[in-house]
Amino acid sequence: MSVPPAPENFGELVQIIYSSRSLLGGEGLSAGISDILRISRQNNARDDITGALFFNGRAFAQVLEGPQLAVSNLYASLLKDKRHTDVCLLQHEYITRRCFEGWAMAYVEGAGGQGFTITPGFLHDALHRSNGSSGPVLQLMKYVMAER
Ligand SMILES: Cc1cc2nc3c(=O)[nH]c(=O)nc-3n(C[C@H](O)[C@H](O)[C@H](O)COP(=O)(O)O)c2cc1C
Repeated sequence: MSVPPAPENFGELVQIIYSSRSLLGGEGLSAGISDILRISRQNNARDDITGALFFNGRAFAQVLEGPQLAVSNLYASLLKDKRHTDVCLLQHEYITRRCFEGWAMAYVEGAGGQGFTITPGFLHDALHRSNGSSGPVLQLMKYVMAER
């Protein structure tokens, strides 16, 4: 998972899923989320990245899909971003089809208990229960989006 891609794989489509703990809070919270979404939608459209960001007030979970090099560069920026911490890479897969085609960054927000729950361990557990396959987790994410 941490092995850098070989140059011949730079253009291949990859999908990653990570979770992290939010450091946003207080009065700046909604402005902070708006900033993230604005820059994400702008950059991701430019870099051919699609995906979804989930936020429950405490934790983020994000699916990112796109060319290997673009996704790796974004992940490197994300690791340095002071708006969250405990970034945990849960999945890194080569894909042939995107799950979030057409979404420069879909956004789902909810409070734990009010519809859906994300804790940093939640997706990890869900992936573990499905033997490392991201299918069920992605289905859950799409379901949560469709319900809103
Ligand atoms: C939870 C979270 C999700 C983010 N998602 C994206 C994203 O999908 N695309 C993006 O370009 N930046 C995203 N960012 C912002 C990046 O970390 C970074 O600030 C931005 O890409 C600009 O990086 P640069 O200054 O290195 O160009 C996200 C930040 C956070 C905290």
